[in-house]
Amino acid sequence: MPGLMDPVRIDERGAASAEPQPLPEPQPRPRQVASDGKTNILIVGSGAREHALLWHLGRSSMAGEIYVAPGNGGTHDHNIGIDAADTVRLYEFARHNDCVTVVGPELPLALGVVDLFRSEGMPIFGPTQRQAKIEWSKSYSKALMRELAIPTAAFSVFTEPEPAIAYASGRGWNVAVKADGLADGKGVRVCSSEAEVRAAVADIMDRKVFGGAGNSIIVEDRIYGTELSVFALCDGIRAVYLGSAVDHKQLLDGGKGPNTGGMGAYSPAELSSDTMVRYVMSRIMDPVVARTEFSGFLYAGLMLTHDGPKVIEFNSRLGDPEAQVILPRLDFDLLPYLNLVSTGGRLGAGVRLNLAYEAACCVSMCSEGYPLSHKDNQGRRISGVDEANARTNTLVFHAGTRLEDGKPLTDGGRVLSVVGRGRSLDHAVREAYRSVDMISFKGEQHRTDIGRTRLRA
Ligand code: AMP
Ligand code: GLY
Repeated sequence: MPGLMDPVRIDERGAASAEPQPLPEPQPRPRQVASDGKTNILIVGSGAREHALLWHLGRSSMAGEIYVAPGNGGTHDHNIGIDAADTVRLYEFARHNDCVTVVGPELPLALGVVDLFRSEGMPIFGPTQRQAKIEWSKSYSKALMRELAIPTAAFSVFTEPEPAIAYASGRGWNVAVKADGLADGKGVRVCSSEAEVRAAVADIMDRKVFGGAGNSIIVEDRIYGTELSVFALCDGIRAVYLGSAVDHKQLLDGGKGPNTGGMGAYSPAELSSDTMVRYVMSRIMDPVVARTEFSGFLYAGLMLTHDGPKVIEFNSRLGDPEAQVILPRLDFDLLPYLNLVSTGGRLGAGVRLNLAYEAACCVSMCSEGYPLSHKDNQGRRISGVDEANARTNTLVFHAGTRLEDGKPLTDGGRVLSVVGRGRSLDHAVREAYRSVDMISFKGEQHRTDIGRTRLRA
């Protein structure tokens, strides 16, 4: 296991970041955790991303007790019955159990869970509410990009429908209409006609399908190209490249059907050359960290256009299902890094992250009716998980599951993330699908082309 400050090999190298600038020590200084030298960990969230975090951190020789709030069927032995949005109870639990806390989803970050912990001197890994604004306010994020000259689509922000429609008309109706606030990843409509724009604006601003998130909207030029996500581990002054992934958001093969939380992903994105990664780190990640002192996982959703990479969105956390293909590729222990950053420490200048597997592929196995009407199709017995998990290159992470008499039942839209790892993407894809074939539950649906349709326009 490399030491924290040791330079280590990486095959997807990040660009060297700017020299660290001294920052004031966080006040008050977080107290030390676990007296036996082990670190107790509280993971916040309930998806397959959090199960993947549990799997990764659980292998660390430094890990003490690990808790998941609220967790799922796969994290059952670690679950505590605290909602991810209940920041005060999370704080009380972490304090009582001397935990370092790692936050998975965006909502607790937007609610200020990091601010609360920090103000009480408790260690937590993630951005403050102000830093997480890069995700919870798209108008802020776009303004920041404009200010920092980060490449992104031209845009304008509106608080009334008619000016928004007039602007879209001036852009030839080829626009993306976006709710400003958090909308569970569903607040974007990509349009190419007047009717689509009018419907999108009416849904978001008049019918308020995303509630207050639609009080203002962004109308931006539609851009074309291949999409990928890039991840960085940030300590407030430095961004270290953590890998790239491609997420398949549409329900059906070939990128058809409704948008979902993510039907699968693969890593690395095949277009993440060293040159591209260096460009993304220096032009996109480093400026954000330098301006906002961002601490936590920073996620840039990119479109590779004819004019180079452009940012579609920033997120202030690991992606789901991207985490399920990033974490299983790592050949080092994230825990010392998370520990260091969550107690106000800085990553060393030479930190480079090692990768064990060339590629990983994740297939989401989903409930019947997902994403539109799966609520009544729950409680179905899932078979084959242990058999698939026993395969060398497979990891099965749970999402919408619960246990009954020790056996997993479906309990949500996306049920399992089945991950294959391998020496090439083709290998990882084959591994993932062999394992998918071993698992079944009534009404199960999944895409059959994850990692197989490389170019998505
Ligand atoms: P977001 O929630 O901002 O990531 O957007 C969801 C999806 O909408 C993205 O993954 C893209 O496929 C698409 N999208 C967002 N903005 C644009 C844009 N300006 N041009 C084309 N597609 C976009
Ligand atoms: N995979 C998209 C997201 O986590 O926002």
